[in-house]
Amino acid sequence: MTDRALDGKVALVTGAGRGIGRVIALRLARDGASVVVHYSSSRAGADETVFEITANGGRAVAYQADIARREQVVAMFEKMDADPGRLDIVVNNSGVAAGGPLAELKDEDVEKIFGVNMLGPLYIASEAAKRMADNGRIINFSSTAAKYPGSGSGIYSAAKRAVESFTESWARELGARGITVNTIIPGATSPGMVDANPQARERFANASPFKRIGTAEEIAAAVAFLASNEASWVTGGHILANGAASL
Ligand SMILES: NC(=O)c1ccc[n+]([C@@H]2O[C@H](COP(=O)([O-])OP(=O)(O)OC[C@H]3O[C@@H](n4cnc5c(N)ncnc54)[C@H](OP(=O)(O)O)[C@@H]3O)[C@@H](O)[C@H]2O)c1
Repeated sequence: MTDRALDGKVALVTGAGRGIGRVIALRLARDGASVVVHYSSSRAGADETVFEITANGGRAVAYQADIARREQVVAMFEKMDADPGRLDIVVNNSGVAAGGPLAELKDEDVEKIFGVNMLGPLYIASEAAKRMADNGRIINFSSTAAKYPGSGSGIYSAAKRAVESFTESWARELGARGITVNTIIPGATSPGMVDANPQARERFANASPFKRIGTAEEIAAAVAFLASNEASWVTGGHILANGAASL
């Protein structure tokens, strides 16, 4: 068996029951990592991800948590302490996009969008920082919407910009332990949240000189690089993976 880039590492991927997170989990497992497949509501998808990883000779376990609820994040990490009992890589992939006119602001939308996109990654990273091995990796997720905040998407864009600030701060805080922290900034990507909106898919495809949207495999490839030892000097950065789309 050949040495793979992530042999011996343990990765937590949030939102790995579907969309981009599922493809990231499969990619990190292919590179040799044991994977904690986190899910919130996609239990069947998480089980399938675990099945696919183990069927290919890898190791994976699925744990549930609503990451906007700190107590659920803490409970998940307590399970992770028992199995797999180690943590090297955190991929803060979970996210929800929603929006609407300012005049129609709803408390539940504010709570959910800031909760999942901003507080969730914070709670996850806080628990991870207590346990993570030296030379670990934290990979946060922003969005091209943070670069070009559109009408009606202010809360989502603001939450993602907050994540970019977290990245810069945590990189400085955790660097003494060799831990790197970076942000991936995807553009429209399939499979993923953009699939629900064919008009947005087309608009985003036209916004890139490639005249297409990205694939989850292309995002997973960027994550795999940041997770590897090869990326030891890349930290505090924001990697645009959006086909140079400008909106
Ligand atoms: N796809 C795109 O076009 C695109 C573009 C820019 C940025 N992004 C970013 O890329 C990341 C992945 O997006 P995606 O396209 O794969 O989205 P998606 O297909 O809509 O999946 C969203 C993921 O977030 C998880 N999630 C939702 N609510 C949660 C909660 N309360 N607690 C924990 N997890 C929760 C879901 O888990 P369950 O299904 O288990 O509930 C699901 O795995 C997100 O951060 C997103 O903002 C995506």
